[in-house]
Amino acid sequence: MSRIGWVSLPPEQTNPNSQHTNDLNQYGLGSMGLAMATNLQRHLATKRALNLVYSNRTMARGDTLKRLGAVPEPSFPSLVAQCGIIFTMISNDTVLSNLITTAVESGHSLKDKIFVDCSTVHPQTVGLTVCKLKEKQASFLAAPVFGGNPIAVDGKLVFAIGGPRSAAEVVKPLIQDVMGRKIIDCGEDATKSSLLKIAGNIVTVNLMEAVGEAQVFAERTGLGTGPMEELIGEAFGAVAGGYSKRLTTGAYAPSLDSRPGFGVSLAIKDANHALAIANEHNVRLPGLQVARENMMAAREYAGECLDSSSMYGVLRQQAGLEFWNEKSRKGGR
Ligand SMILES: NC(=O)c1ccc[n+]([C@@H]2O[C@H](COP(=O)([O-])OP(=O)(O)OC[C@H]3O[C@@H](n4cnc5c(N)ncnc54)[C@H](OP(=O)(O)O)[C@@H]3O)[C@@H](O)[C@H]2O)c1
Repeated sequence: MSRIGWVSLPPEQTNPNSQHTNDLNQYGLGSMGLAMATNLQRHLATKRALNLVYSNRTMARGDTLKRLGAVPEPSFPSLVAQCGIIFTMISNDTVLSNLITTAVESGHSLKDKIFVDCSTVHPQTVGLTVCKLKEKQASFLAAPVFGGNPIAVDGKLVFAIGGPRSAAEVVKPLIQDVMGRKIIDCGEDATKSSLLKIAGNIVTVNLMEAVGEAQVFAERTGLGTGPMEELIGEAFGAVAGGYSKRLTTGAYAPSLDSRPGFGVSLAIKDANHALAIANEHNVRLPGLQVARENMMAAREYAGECLDSSSMYGVLRQQAGLEFWNEKSRKGGR
């Protein structure tokens, strides 16, 4: 029996009228979701398993997935009815809560279905989602990811999984060496993986701020961003080197018709979650606070179409430079 045959629910446990009762569903085709769903669909195709069924607010974003054999389904409740395992990769807590409420209120049986959310959301949202789905005899796994779009494209994300062990064991083969290189098992409490993700992003956002500060320093002192970038990549690793490239290639402020790699509002959301949790535990995160203020100032100045590394533009302004550099877009919001 193929892995997919094993992980999916047998037809009698889902909607008996469905044509796709063993299919998986992916909801959310953003910067990360499309890359992840593409790897999952390719994997299903090589296993000759049923194709991924996908949905998204903007269905056209799934056109490349469709060409790979995935099945578009504009109606989320209808997808839920068809699928045993439902992945979500959406922007924030409100979107996830709305989707889960839609599923719960759809009137379809959710018995034995597994919902897997890979977004970054607050542990409280995870806790509420677990309860809502438990009442419907469905399982919820929080499976947030570490790594940006290029890593998602390569199928090398790091996942943190939390939730019922039986559900996690069903889903792991769809992640390991398909969408991810590593799974950190956070145990049965789904809120723990969400907490780990938020803790990880304290490092991410601080590192972006540090790289931005160093690059503005290098430019203003005449050292130059080239040698600085070489050093960052060599001495501080590929992740820090990648953050530097977001600055020197102008990706921190991409053209208005493109989608940022990791949108500034998503990173502000993550920083807000971390600061709120820290506050409850009397923990101070002064570095994160500075980075969040700079991201908010960047968004105020240049709008939503900015990467999370766009605190760099504000650091440039504070040093008497333009927000934009020679490779970024040159204005607009
Ligand atoms: N980007 C990264 O480097 C990265 C890394 C790790 C984790 N994350 C986390 O992963 C999640 C997704 O990130 P992303 O970068 O892929 O985000 P993104 O590119 O902005 O995509 C967000 C997805 O959510 C959907 N969405 C947004 N608002 C919606 C609404 N009101 N109703 C229904 N759908 C809505 C979007 O649909 P449309 O296509 O219709 O807009 C899209 O599918 C976030 O929680 C983020 O914090 C991101």
